[in-house]
Amino acid sequence: MNFKKVAMMSIAVLGIIFLGCQGLKSYSEDELGLRKTTLFNENATIEAYDYSGKVAGESMLIERAFENAPPMIPHSTEGMLPITKDNNACTSCHLPDIAEAVGAVSMPKSHFYNFRDNVDLQGQMDDSRFNCVICHTTQVNAPALVGNNFKADFRQDNGNVRSNLLDVLNEGLK
Ligand code: HEC
Ligand code: HEC
Repeated sequence: MNFKKVAMMSIAVLGIIFLGCQGLKSYSEDELGLRKTTLFNENATIEAYDYSGKVAGESMLIERAFENAPPMIPHSTEGMLPITKDNNACTSCHLPDIAEAVGAVSMPKSHFYNFRDNVDLQGQMDDSRFNCVICHTTQVNAPALVGNNFKADFRQDNGNVRSNLLDVLNEGLK
C-alpha cells in the first residue's frame, strides 16, 4: 500500500469514528459510579437495608422477571444459610414430595435432570441445583440503582408465576 492509500484509509476510519461518536451522551465522574457521587471521595454513605422479610409461609410470591426466570425468594432465609453439604433447609420444604404439604412451591422438573449428560434423574435432584441461592436470591425493599424499562412477554397465561423450562427447552430445534 502506498502512502496516499494509507492516508485516505486513515481519514475514512477517523470519519467513521467521528460519526459514531455523534449523539452519544457523555457522563461526568459524578455520574459514573452506582453511588452517583464523585469517584474521588471515599466518604460514601452506605444505607442498611433489612433483608429479613416475612417468614416462609407468610410472604407474597414475586412475579417472574421473564419467562422461565428463576423466581426470587419472597421469604426470609434467616437460619437457612449458608447451605452446606450436610444441611440444606431449602430442600426440606421445596422438594416435590414435601412442598404441597407445607404450602411451598415445588422445585420444577428441570432441577431433576442432568443437562450435561442429558439424563432424567428420575426424581433425584441434580447436584448442580444443590446451592439454590446461586440462582434464587432474597429481596430487599431498596430503590433500583439503575432504571429498567424491560417488559417481559409471557407466552403462557401463568408464565409470570410458573416455570416450564424442561418442556420448552428444545423448542424450535428439530
Ligand atoms: C419452612 C419451609 C420453607 C423453607 C425452609 C424454604 N422455603 Fe422457600 N417457600 C416456602 C413457601 C411456603 C413459599 C411460598 C411463599 C410463602 O408462603 O411465603 C416459598 C417460596 C419460595 C420461592 C418462590 C417461588 C415462586 O414461585 O415464586 C423461592 C424461589 C423459594 N421459596 C426458595 C427457597 C430457598 C432458596 C430456600 C432456602 C434458602 C427456601 N426457599 C427455604 C417455604 C419454604
Ligand atoms: C443453576 C440455577 C438454579 C439453581 C442452583 C436452583 N434453581 Fe430453582 N430455578 C432455576 C430456574 C432457571 C427456574 C425457572 C425455570 C425452570 O427451571 O423451570 C427455577 C425454578 C424454581 C422454582 C419454581 C418452580 C415452578 O413451578 O415455577 C422453585 C420453587 C425452585 N426453582 C426452587 C429451587 C430450590 C429449592 C433450589 C435448591 C435446592 C433451586 N431451585 C436451585 C434455577 C436454579
